[in-house]
Order: sequence, then structure tokens, then C-alpha cells
Amino acid sequence: MRILIIGSEGMLGHDLVDILSADNEVSTTTIDTLDITDIDKTIQTVNEVKPDVLVHAAAYTDVDGSESNSDLAYKVNAIGTRNVAVACQKADCALVYICTDYVFDGTKGSSYYEYDQTNPLSVYGKTKLAGEIYIRDILNKFYITRTSWLYGFHGPNFVTTMLNLAETNDVISVVNDQIGSPTYTVDLANAIAKLITKPNYGIYHITNSDHCSWYEYAKEIFNNAGVNINLKPVTTEEFPRPAFRPKYSVLENYNWIMEGFPKIRSYKMALKDYMKLL
Ligand SMILES: NC(=O)c1ccc[n+]([C@@H]2O[C@H](COP(=O)([O-])OP(=O)(O)OC[C@H]3O[C@@H](n4cnc5c(N)ncnc54)[C@H](OP(=O)(O)O)[C@@H]3O)[C@@H](O)[C@H]2O)c1
Repeated sequence: MRILIIGSEGMLGHDLVDILSADNEVSTTTIDTLDITDIDKTIQTVNEVKPDVLVHAAAYTDVDGSESNSDLAYKVNAIGTRNVAVACQKADCALVYICTDYVFDGTKGSSYYEYDQTNPLSVYGKTKLAGEIYIRDILNKFYITRTSWLYGFHGPNFVTTMLNLAETNDVISVVNDQIGSPTYTVDLANAIAKLITKPNYGIYHITNSDHCSWYEYAKEIFNNAGVNINLKPVTTEEFPRPAFRPKYSVLENYNWIMEGFPKIRSYKMALKDYMKLL
């Protein structure tokens, strides 16, 4: 297949390029070669490549920064995604969009299915959901993959932040009342590579299995690293951030399993593999 990856220099984008290149003819763009907020350039670029599948991994991903930069977040995540969708429609290619657990408000109290009601709490979540809605309105051939708590080799993430903090702090406070599923970009990229081999379009929740709080996640990181540190569990109220986050945003990988794909491994196993290579 011919695949165009937009946002190829991002944390997930890098792994998508590596993994999808194994069996496909891959072209890439970065923010320097294609700014997705430019609709004409986006249409022109997609038309030149004429991909079978376009993987859109570009986004304004600063969750807290989106609260004070809401116009920019909307311009990239909503309008930019609309532009990509229009370009796909004109080039008649399928689109993969990466969305987030932050489209949910976290009040359900159990894991979210693909068909559950969305209700984002943050500007970031709202703009990513607006991107989803544009895609659903414009295209027939799309895979919307919602994922959560990404970490990987090609970008700063919670694992590297914790390890860096441990170098200069004896005590680290970590939120213990937000629950989700940490997801390894390599595992997500491999899942996307499988997903696009069939025209089973729709919304997919794709995360590593099992779940934890940020505090439990940090404990796992320091156990793996063999680092002794005083970890202090705190509440969201004790550790306020500009953006509200859902308290419980575990994503049931329901459509993925219904389509016959194998359950994705536990976040604990994925994290061990990642940290061995750090
Ligand atoms: N990270 C997470 O925990 C997480 C969780 C759930 C879903 N997601 C979603 O997963 C996808 C990949 O996330 P990631 O963590 O890999 O993000 P990332 O590392 O921040 O990569 C995003 C890429 O998009 C580029 N970009 C920003 N504005 C652009 C524009 N106007 N035109 C073209 N490119 C632009 C960025 O360039 P610059 O770096 O130069 O700005 C960056 O290379 C995103 O859609 C994100 O919303 C992420």
C-alpha cells in the first residue's frame, strides 16, 4: 500500500514510519514541509502522493497549554484535521486519525466503549473531538483510533519525566485519583499497521491492556529502573493543573476485539520492554 504519514517527527509519528515502512511504500510530512492549517497545501500534498491510506499523527498536544492557547489548539486539531479530511476526500484515500481518552469526562466509573457519550473537560479534548466530528461528517473511509497516556522513544513523556525528576528530588508527588491505561507508541503503531489491512472502518479504542493511576504507573517505572524514591500519592486537588482531566478514562478496546484482533499486551509488559531499551 502507499501510505502518507503526516506528523512523522512526533513521538508516535516516528514509530509509525518505522513500522509501516516494513510492508508499505511510505511518504512523510513534518510541520516544516506541511502545515495542516493550510488547506490548499494540504490538498496539494495529498493529491501529489495519492496514498491509499493517510495516517494523521500531527496535533497540538500540549494539554495544559491548550487552555491558554485555545485558538491555536482549535486551528491545528479541529481545522487542521478538517483540512486533512477534505484532502482525503478529494484523493479518495482512507484516513487514520489519532484521538484521545480526553474526549470523555471520566464520570462513567467503568471503561469507555467506542459508542459511549463523549463529554470532554478540556480545550484539548474538545478540539480533538471537533477533529473527529469533521472526519465523521466529511469521510466514509476512516479509522478513528482513540488512545491514552502515550510514551515512546521519540518524545518527552511521563516515564522520562519521572526518571528526570528522580535525579534532583528525594520526594515526588504523583496524582493517585486519575486512572487510565499507559500505552506504548510501538504497540499502537503495530495495531494501526494491522487495522489498515482491512476496510473495517470506524472508531477504535486502542490502548495497552490493564490500567493504573499515575501514582501506580510511577511506582512501576521506579521498580523497573531499580530506583529507590519516596513517592507520595496526592489528589488532583492537591496537584492542580490548568486543564481538567477525566478521573477514570480507561478505554475498552471493544471494536478491536470484536473485529478479531488479539488483545493488546498489558501496559506493565510494554513498559518493561520500553525501559530495557532506554
Ligand atoms: N501523547 C499522548 O499522551 C497522547 C494521548 C492520546 C492521544 N494522542 C494523540 O496522538 C497523536 C500523536 O501524539 P504524539 O504524542 O506523538 O504528539 P507529538 O509528539 O506532539 O507530535 C505531534 C506532531 O505534530 C506536529 N504538528 C503540530 N502542529 C502542526 C501543524 N500545524 N501541521 C503539521 N504538523 C504539526 C508537531 O510538530 P512540532 O513538535 O514542531 O510542534 C509534532 O511533530 C496526536 O494526535 C495526539 O493528539 C496523544
